[in-house]
Amino acid sequence: MDRRQMESAVAGIVRLLGTSLKNLGLYPASHPLVRTPVEKCCAEFLPLFADRTELALTVSDGTLVLEGVPIFHLTSSLELFLARLGGIGVPAVIFERGVATEDIERFVRFLHETKEQGLSVSAIKDRLAEAGVRHIRVTSTEEDTDDFSIAREIYGNAIDVVVQALKDVRGGKTPDGAVCDRTVREMNGMISRNRDAMLALTLIKNFDEYTFNHSVNVSILSLAVADSLGLSEQSRVNVGVAGLLHDVGKTQLALDLIRKPGTLTVNEFEEIKKHPEEGYAILGKMTNIQDETRNMVREHHMRFDRAGYPRPEPELRVNPHSQIIAVADCYDALTTMRSYQKARTPQGALEIMRKLAGKSIDPDLVQLLERSLGVYPVGTMLRLNTMEVGIVTGAPEGGNGHPKMAILYDRAGNPLPSPETVNLSEADPATGKPRRRILGTVNPLFHPYISLESVFAPAPV
Ligand SMILES: [Fe+2]
Ligand SMILES: [Fe+2]
Repeated sequence: MDRRQMESAVAGIVRLLGTSLKNLGLYPASHPLVRTPVEKCCAEFLPLFADRTELALTVSDGTLVLEGVPIFHLTSSLELFLARLGGIGVPAVIFERGVATEDIERFVRFLHETKEQGLSVSAIKDRLAEAGVRHIRVTSTEEDTDDFSIAREIYGNAIDVVVQALKDVRGGKTPDGAVCDRTVREMNGMISRNRDAMLALTLIKNFDEYTFNHSVNVSILSLAVADSLGLSEQSRVNVGVAGLLHDVGKTQLALDLIRKPGTLTVNEFEEIKKHPEEGYAILGKMTNIQDETRNMVREHHMRFDRAGYPRPEPELRVNPHSQIIAVADCYDALTTMRSYQKARTPQGALEIMRKLAGKSIDPDLVQLLERSLGVYPVGTMLRLNTMEVGIVTGAPEGGNGHPKMAILYDRAGNPLPSPETVNLSEADPATGKPRRRILGTVNPLFHPYISLESVFAPAPV
C-alpha cells in the first residue's frame, strides 16, 4: 500500500469514526447507525496492518497528521472527530494491530461521553483503561518529550498497575490481566527503542514501596534479558508479565511477615515458600494470562539446580524462561537496600551472581544479563584518572567500547552545578591519548544524593 492509498484509507477510517461519534449523539450505542460505521472501520484497518504493527495519528493545530505527514484532503464530516480529540486533549492516538470492534466502539463512546476539556495524557490513559479500550493508545507527541520522560511515564503507569493488582488481590478481587499485558507491552516497546532510558529507571529503589518497584524492576530486567535472547514479541511479553506478577502470591501472606527485618524463623520461611504456588493460583483466575506466564511465576524460586521451592517433581520440565525471572529477581534484590542488607553496586551484585551461577541461577543467563547491562551498568558511579566522579548513563554503542557517562563531581569532590556529559574516547590534543580513563567504581553512598532526572533529563538551559 503506497502513501496515497494509505492516506485515503485513513481518511476513510476517520470519517467512519466521525459518523459513529455524530450518530452516538442522536441514537443509542446499539443502533446500527452507530455500530455499522465502527464495524466497517475495523474491517478497513486490516489491510493497513498487513505490514505495520501500529499506526500513529496526531492532531496538530486542528490538522490530522498521519505518521508525521499532514492529511489535507479531509472533509468537514471529520471536524467533529478532530474537535473532540483536540478538546479532550488527546495529542496523538496510536492504533495497534489487533484493534477490535469493541475497542473502537469504546473509544468512540469515550470521545462522546468525556465532557472535560484539556485532560492530561495520563488521565486519558486511565479513562481508556477503565473503559476497557485495548489496542488504541494515547501518547504525548514525540517532539516535546524525550525518551527518558516517556520511559518515566511508562514506569509510573506500570507501578500503578502493580499497586492496583495487589490491592485487588488483597480485596478478594481478580486483577485485570489485560492491563498487565498492556503495561508490559509499553515497557517492551521502550526497551527496543531506548534500552538505557528504561533500564536507568530500575535504579529507583523506593524503600517504602519496595514491592511495587521491585515488581516493575524485575519485569524490565527480564524484558531486557528476553530481548538479548532474541525471543519473539509474545514470549517477551509473557516473560515481562511474569516478572511483573512474580511475587503477587505474597499478598496472601501477613504484611508483618513480608516486611520483617532480619532472619526468618523456620515456620515463617515455610509461609514465604508458599508464594509461588499462591501466585500460580491467582494468575489462573486472571484473563489474558498465558500458561507460560503462570508457570514462570510458579517456578521462579525452583532454582537452576532444582533444589528450591516448591520442590519440582522429578518429571517436571521447568520452563527455561523461569530462570530469566530468577536472575532478574536476584539482581534487583541485591542492588536494593533492605532493612537487613546494604545495597550492592551493580558490579557487586553481578560478582555475587557469578558465584551463584550454576547453583541457584542459570550461568548462561547471568552472562547474558551482564552483557545486557554492560561492563559498567547504567547507574554505576565511576572515578576517572582526572579524579572526577561520574555516573554511567548508557551502554557503549554496539556493546563495545566506552560507556556513556556524565560527570557529577569535580576533582575536589564538589558537585557540578549540572551533570556534564563527556565522551571517553575524546583525545587530549597535547598527547593524542584519551583525556579521561576509568580508574574504577565508586561507592555511591560516599557522595551526596543526585536525582536521576538531573542526569537523564537535564533541565533545558
Ligand atoms: Fe518470589
Ligand atoms: Fe521477587
